[in-house]
Amino acid sequence: MVVSEIIGVVGAGTMGNGIAQVAARAGYQVVLRDVKEEFLERGLKAVDRSLQRDVDKERMQPAEKRDVIERITTTTDFAALAPANFIIEAVTENLAIKTEVFRALDEVASPAAILASNTSSISITKLGAATRRPHKVIGMHFMNPVPVMKLVEVIRGLATSDETYERTRALTEQMGKQALECNDSAGFVSNRVLMPMINEAIFALHENVATRESIDGIMKLGMNHPMGPLTLADFIGLDVCLAIMNVLHEELGDPKYRPCPLLKRYVDAGWLGKKTGRGFYEYEK
Ligand code: CAA
Repeated sequence: MVVSEIIGVVGAGTMGNGIAQVAARAGYQVVLRDVKEEFLERGLKAVDRSLQRDVDKERMQPAEKRDVIERITTTTDFAALAPANFIIEAVTENLAIKTEVFRALDEVASPAAILASNTSSISITKLGAATRRPHKVIGMHFMNPVPVMKLVEVIRGLATSDETYERTRALTEQMGKQALECNDSAGFVSNRVLMPMINEAIFALHENVATRESIDGIMKLGMNHPMGPLTLADFIGLDVCLAIMNVLHEELGDPKYRPCPLLKRYVDAGWLGKKTGRGFYEYEK
């Protein structure tokens, strides 16, 4: 299926390239934007690798894979996003950077376009306020790995209109995902619940309650989680986990959300998890 709607994706990192992939696979034309050519090349390579899994398992023909990749055009220029009816931002989890991106998108995007953020914890209301179209700003929080995970947490900012919500829900379903709605509150639902669990697992390690293997094994085998919390933290990125705990702590003010000192120390060391080859576990780069 090829659809005429054009989806813009800003940021070609893990989440951005995953979003571009599922949109292109659903038949949309995708314009993928990042600041450097090398980031775009890396993003497209990740899409190629991810689709190749399906080709290897004979769930996709090589020609279909080629068509999906061809539906993604890359650019370093914001202006190339002008024809998109729907733009999904997936840049670094940093309020100042995201605000800048939303200001720039508001300038170039068509007045009808919806601007969605894949933020995992930043206020949609704040991002909306950086634009002249807060009623067309919404949160579209995909889960990692995007091609595999069914959920998109759809977050309404204070000014988000019902029409924007409906268009976002419909797009989510077109992309083969399920939309679940929530309001704009720190960490939304997913990270309000997930991150304190991960943080508590890090406290358990910090306080020598058990080894990393025991902590993960207990949660994996005992609770039927696909990954233990320390493995999951490495998979998400410890810098991302710390940024989310800081948002929960600052916004909600309750000391129960304070990030574990061990998490801070690992981030200070540059041990950010799988992506840097070291987190709570060691990985081949
Ligand atoms: N692209 C495409 N397919 C992928 C993939 C990718 N990047 N990664 C895994 N897969 C597919 C595999 O091909 C395999 O497919 P089939 O079963 O259909 O053959 C399937 O996913 C399972 O993969 P594996 O067998 O390699 O490994 P696994 O069984 O250990 O599963 C996992 C891997 C899906 C990542 C699983 O461990 C899992 O679900 N982990 C938890 C993930 C999670 O909690 N994500 C949310 C993180 S929080 C977040 O994203 C939000 C935030 O704001 C922080």
